[in-house]
Amino acid sequence: MARLVVVSNRVADPRKASAGGLAVALAEFLNSTGGIWFGWSGKVVEPAEGGRAGEAQMHSQQAGPVKLVTLDLSREDHDAYYLGYSNGVLWPVCHYRLDLADFEASDIQGYRRVNQLFARQLAPLLQPDDIVWVHDYHLIPLGSELRALGCQQRIGFFLHVPLPPPPMFAAIPGHDWLMKGLCSYDLVGLQSQADHAHFCQYIQGEFHAQSLEGAQWRVFNRTLCAGAYPIGIDVEEFNALAEAPEARDMYERMKREYSRRKLLVGVDRLDYSKGLPHRLKAFRALLQNYPDTHRSATLIQIASPSREDVGAYTDILHELESLCGSINGNYGELDWMPVRYIHRTVARARLPGLYRASQVALVTPLRDGMNLVAKEFVVAQDPEDPGVLVLSRFAGAAEQLKEALLVNPYDSEGTAEAIHLALQMPLEERRERHRALLAVCKRWDVHWWCDTFLEDLGTTHAQESGTP
Ligand code: G6P
Repeated sequence: MARLVVVSNRVADPRKASAGGLAVALAEFLNSTGGIWFGWSGKVVEPAEGGRAGEAQMHSQQAGPVKLVTLDLSREDHDAYYLGYSNGVLWPVCHYRLDLADFEASDIQGYRRVNQLFARQLAPLLQPDDIVWVHDYHLIPLGSELRALGCQQRIGFFLHVPLPPPPMFAAIPGHDWLMKGLCSYDLVGLQSQADHAHFCQYIQGEFHAQSLEGAQWRVFNRTLCAGAYPIGIDVEEFNALAEAPEARDMYERMKREYSRRKLLVGVDRLDYSKGLPHRLKAFRALLQNYPDTHRSATLIQIASPSREDVGAYTDILHELESLCGSINGNYGELDWMPVRYIHRTVARARLPGLYRASQVALVTPLRDGMNLVAKEFVVAQDPEDPGVLVLSRFAGAAEQLKEALLVNPYDSEGTAEAIHLALQMPLEERRERHRALLAVCKRWDVHWWCDTFLEDLGTTHAQESGTP
């Protein structure tokens, strides 16, 4: 079996409990093939006095059979590549928020510089038969940079975020360069059928790509494949986490604390794409329109701090704090706070307990590549007495989780109505919906995702001479 090389901006140590399902699944694959996980070390190096930092420092450590290789970034590179172009331009546009994109010409140069740096440092580590799998929007041009250095290996790319329709993507300065970069991979994986359709429309419309049989395209004198590979979770790993003492303890505590109330839960990074103010407005509409929920429903909203150096993230923080304050001020009683807002990261090990103790999950992003909280909530439920998932129709997960209560998060009254329905749903209906949702989570789990993508990448045609 060919050796696997995974490249992503963040590298998780799969031996650590906080690593999460994706890291565990990739590590499992890496364990069987042997291989490298390559990316940013998470460290920013300040320039030496009076100048720029030199070439990035490379760290290498063995984690079982997997070698973790990471690079430090200089302040200038980090700010342009990570804060600037990746999270100030690509992230908002891919989440349909052109209004929040903040384009600086120097950022795209930094983005390119870091991708070139990654390629330069990675290329000498590659063996001829390696399979290279690049992840996410930070590293779109990495494939073409590797090709420019003569790398002929099979290289696949998976985009974890949504791909917007071509007219919106075309608002990104450098969009054609990015898309051309995508065309130098052998396989491009997207989260949903909708994202896949947008990719096909773009390369057809802008590059006159020719559709071949199967999922193949002929473009820039080479052949590439593209398809939807909806990411899943590691169901067994999550079940094991649910059985462990930390999750059980959390479950018991929540059950005790909310024995006479119904618990609604939201767990998100504090990101404007997650629709948190919209969610709180829907919860406010629930309290306003359905007085039976007073004293009987509590929303726990965990919003873990994220990308605090990007301006748009601080605006949302203030909006959220003021909404929580006004809901609690207007509706709260001496013995009941409607919203419990927690602006901290809660240990992953405790989450299954929190999910299982909750009657309703609110997963209502304005736009999301997939959203794995939705799947984790389903897996954590007691099948005999399961909670109900209220899911945004704009999450990639909505293409698969059709038995959830699908909502339009922009419509607070409609979302409130769905939440009320969820709170009232009879046991038999909850069980039926949960059975269907669980089957989807199990069938299309993270192993399916990993295996299918890598199998498809392995059977793509060997690299041809053409480079875009
Ligand atoms: C999303 C992206 C990931 C990213 C994660 C956390 O899920 O798709 O690539 O790692 O957010 O964001 P951060 O900026 O902290 O890496």
